[in-house]
Amino acid sequence: MLSRLMGEITMNALDSYLESNSKRHLDEFFDFLRIPSISTDPAHSEDVDNCADFLVQQFKSIGFQVEKVATDGHPIVYAEWLGAPDKPTVLYYGHYDVQPPDPLELWDSPPFEPTIRDGAVVARGASDDKGQVFAHIKAFEALMAIDNRMPINIKVLIEGEEESGSSNLDPFIKSYRDRLNADVVLVSDTAMFDRETPSICYGLRGLAYFQINVTGPSRDLHSGSFGGAVDNPINALCYLINRLKDRDGVIQIPGFYDSVLKLSDTERQELSQLPFDEPAFLGEVNAKAFGERGFSTLERIGARPALDVNGIWGGYTGEGAKTVLPSKAHAKVSMRLVPNQSPAEIAVKFQDYLNTISPDSVQVSVESMHGGEPSVSDRSSPFVAASSRALEALFGKPPLFVREGGSIPVVSSFNQILGLDTILAGFGLANDRIHSPNEKFELDCFRTAARFGVRVWHEMAQ
Ligand code: BES
Ligand code: MN
Ligand code: MN
Repeated sequence: MLSRLMGEITMNALDSYLESNSKRHLDEFFDFLRIPSISTDPAHSEDVDNCADFLVQQFKSIGFQVEKVATDGHPIVYAEWLGAPDKPTVLYYGHYDVQPPDPLELWDSPPFEPTIRDGAVVARGASDDKGQVFAHIKAFEALMAIDNRMPINIKVLIEGEEESGSSNLDPFIKSYRDRLNADVVLVSDTAMFDRETPSICYGLRGLAYFQINVTGPSRDLHSGSFGGAVDNPINALCYLINRLKDRDGVIQIPGFYDSVLKLSDTERQELSQLPFDEPAFLGEVNAKAFGERGFSTLERIGARPALDVNGIWGGYTGEGAKTVLPSKAHAKVSMRLVPNQSPAEIAVKFQDYLNTISPDSVQVSVESMHGGEPSVSDRSSPFVAASSRALEALFGKPPLFVREGGSIPVVSSFNQILGLDTILAGFGLANDRIHSPNEKFELDCFRTAARFGVRVWHEMAQ
């Protein structure tokens, strides 16, 4: 009883620290968001590097040991506070890189000039993942300021290449294997179930990403002089794309579903009982339900694979008409994978299929871009229970366990290289427009994430 009372006093002190420093925290958050740390674009590599420096400064100022670790790509920020030898150790993971802001003309304010609109911070990276990372940093700051110590040992890994495939992260994890040793991993890079309902995500899809290049004649041709007598690479590309899935969204690549883990009846039952507002979810983006027959929307997103063309180009797309028969056509195609599919297995099957269906009137080549393994996490550990308690303390109800359709490839690496399970407790909202124009993170979500941060480490210490 006494300790519960003391716990409440500590929590009040921590919450009021967050409250009374909120103006400064927001200013610093804006500074973080102003750095255009677009990892995929080489023109921004200096910005990405500066963004890592910004984080190093943050960790220094709160009294964590920190280093900026150079990689063959963008730097990794690694920080730690290990002053509680009799307590567990948690590895916190996040990313400081962001998606490109394109298409720029669809933003209502510049993507790297954060502003507050309707109670939300609008900027690229606000929700994915700078806002969530920063809320945790401010929770660390509050704990260190009030108690001068953390309730638990913390290792922090914040990478700068998540949005571009994390290709240098596995080598880092392998070379830091011993330093990264922990009891569990915590990540805030997903969404809440809804504004009032916290969730813990226990399943993420993997990713296999490709570019298809189709080459026809050696140069662009007059479509009158040649049309009808030589094949057109854009038409050929469309023919190929059209054979990738049927009108129900069933993927036609032979063997594609071979290693898909079937949902158990219990899990289907659980998913069907989630208070999911499907009309609102689809209506918000003016979309109709679509997909494999016999599966619900939540199953299609969380537990079934998908294939999407992400971009397609070639020929003339400017104003007016140009009668041209193009020399080349391209498409980017991504596939979301579920356990136990692997990007390597899918790459072989995709390539084989394209080889069999490609017409010999054009040349077709496939480039394999980045990929990531799908993951499903343990739900029964005491650390999951501790995270649930922290969420319940904030929301007045326990979290729902959900699967999400996005990918965080490092989750599988933590499991395979370090043998660690990952808890995904995120504070975004489904309508945060991540990867889209006008990305936002609501101030309430930021506040909740920070208040979760101060609680979860205390709960895990028990
Ligand atoms: N935070 C997202 C992943 C995510 C999105 C999880 C939505 C749950 C719901 C992450 O930053 C992301 O965008 N990942 C990429 C991975 C890719 C670039 C390897 C993705 O899912 O496309
Ligand atoms: Mn993210
Ligand atoms: Mn992302």
